[in-house]
Amino acid sequence: MNVLSGKVAIVTGASSGIGRATAILFARQGARVVVAARRQHELDILVSEIAATGGEAVALAGDVRDEDHARALVEQAVNRFGGLDVAFNNAGAAGTMAPVTDLSLADWQDVIATNLTSAFLGARHQIPAMAARGGGSLIFTSSFVGYTAGLPAMAAYAAAKAGLVGLTQVLAAELGPKGIRANAVLPGGTDTPANPVNAPGATPEVRTFVEGLHALKRIATPEEIAQTVLHLASDASSFMTGTALLVDGGASINRT
Ligand SMILES: NC(=O)c1ccc[n+]([C@@H]2O[C@H](COP(=O)([O-])OP(=O)(O)OC[C@H]3O[C@@H](n4cnc5c(N)ncnc54)[C@H](OP(=O)(O)O)[C@@H]3O)[C@@H](O)[C@H]2O)c1
Repeated sequence: MNVLSGKVAIVTGASSGIGRATAILFARQGARVVVAARRQHELDILVSEIAATGGEAVALAGDVRDEDHARALVEQAVNRFGGLDVAFNNAGAAGTMAPVTDLSLADWQDVIATNLTSAFLGARHQIPAMAARGGGSLIFTSSFVGYTAGLPAMAAYAAAKAGLVGLTQVLAAELGPKGIRANAVLPGGTDTPANPVNAPGATPEVRTFVEGLHALKRIATPEEIAQTVLHLASDASSFMTGTALLVDGGASINRT
């Protein structure tokens, strides 16, 4: 059974990693998907890939720090596909890694804008469209960093990801009466270009160290995180709202 049959979804950060894997899974599960990121070419390839397997997607390139882009994504969903049921606000980046004393205000503000303000802007425009359908599911990509772990040199990222959990809780409380759910997914290390294991020049020791942080002694595939996002998007999670859902391979509880 296709659990997102008849649903329309927005996925940000869809040009790569977790967002890309989720867009493919959503489409395979019957959703029509508006895919977004800054890189048009990667989005075009994704749309073709989804179409080749019988799915339907449309791409809109833009920057999640820009409110006009947030508005335009919802307009695409409504004008092309008739409404909006699911929004996976997933785009994010760690930004400049530095101790707080070396982190400039501009770098701090950029990471907050990309990871946190983007979610506020997205939700602001997605909520009325979902309310018009009588409900929906807002999903945000937070992280175990800032929630159960403090990692050096990641102050702005941790603050933004922790902020997403607060935003999720307030949205859940505000929107419950409208039938709109809001949840955050908190991945552990995931094998995408954003993870330090894939940074230029990363040694095998870096991978061993990062994998060792997790009880499962490995990092996730983007597809594993996408499965949890699918759960939050679908009616299978109909009584879940306001949740910070760890999908972290035990990174939060591991002490070995
Ligand atoms: N990988 C991990 O270990 C891990 C762990 C916990 C949480 N996360 C979170 O998971 C989410 C997805 O990351 P990922 O691991 O899949 O990394 P990724 O492969 O680098 O994907 C990041 C996505 O975000 C988009 N993006 C970044 N800045 C943007 C901006 N200003 N405007 C629009 N799009 C932007 C990128 O697209 P363009 O470059 O084309 O714009 C890309 O599609 C992020 O929020 C990240 O913080 C990742």
